Amino acid sequence: MKISPKSFDKIEDEILYLKKEKNAVILAHYYQHEEIQDIADFIGDSLDLSKKAQQTDADIIVFCGVRFMAEVAKILSPQKTVILPDINAGCSLEESCPPNLFKAFKKKYPDHIVLSYINCSAEIKALSDVIVTSSNAAKIINTFPKNKKIIFAPDRHLGNYLNKITGRNMILWNGACIVHETFSEKELIKLKVRNENAKIIAHPECPENILNYADFIGSTSALLKFTSDDDTQKFIVATEPHIIHQMKKNQPTKEFLVAPGNDGSCSCSNCPYMELNTLEKLRNCLLEVTPKINIDNKLILKAKKPLIEMLKLS
Ligand code: 13P
Ligand code: SF4
Repeated sequence: MKISPKSFDKIEDEILYLKKEKNAVILAHYYQHEEIQDIADFIGDSLDLSKKAQQTDADIIVFCGVRFMAEVAKILSPQKTVILPDINAGCSLEESCPPNLFKAFKKKYPDHIVLSYINCSAEIKALSDVIVTSSNAAKIINTFPKNKKIIFAPDRHLGNYLNKITGRNMILWNGACIVHETFSEKELIKLKVRNENAKIIAHPECPENILNYADFIGSTSALLKFTSDDDTQKFIVATEPHIIHQMKKNQPTKEFLVAPGNDGSCSCSNCPYMELNTLEKLRNCLLEVTPKINIDNKLILKAKKPLIEMLKLS
């Protein structure tokens, strides 16, 4: 490993020095470790982060999130260098939708358009007409006539929720997020009974049996905003628990409980992919400007179209 040109007492100071020296910007998702959230220039949900990636005038984008998010930054700003602290930070939703199988699936519905959740590979984006995130999906679906035939991939839980709230009958690809599938309905009820006054808030990647108990459902940014705007003093949070760091920062007097898994505890809902990024890896990737996101130019052009369509419609 290369040695930094200066020595620092704290790794955070070294990261800030390297960031300035290389004209880099650090973007982080709410599911990142607390110390990464604290050092980022910008924290947000998938939609916020893709907009920031498109707008920045930095030479290097350090994407502290998962690989599909860093790929979106590269697709929207191909002239920039995009680096990800751990290149193995994948996503179970992306893995649940292999492009060759999806291509065959799509062929069965030639008169359907394809809406894909941003949590998918660049190849799946290239096979799609429009990309959506959890914060703009309903709005985008509602821009299409009610009788429009739509395939939705890859998240069946989000797709099912969107079908319900928009009154559609989209054909769903059978994918899911392993993190949001870990919450236990039985344990959630027990926790709610013990905390009667708490409101349950949930990400729409959760299965329907969990969403049925939610007082509020939304993207990570929407959940965060709700915990500030609502008068409730206690929340049960059914999404990846690292977001609670921002909730507590915004509302230090309120209480936040993590929705439990089957064993009644909560650490099972940490995203194993998001957790791969650490402060040390962030420092190393800035120092060595690697690992870089590289995508074939043809694929960039194909995957960019549905992303631009999303930004236009949201
Ligand atoms: P949002 O931040 O867009 O709500 O998405 C959450 C997510 O699944 C990140 O993997
Ligand atoms: Fe993928 Fe789920 Fe992790 Fe989000 S929380 S990155 S959808 S595995």
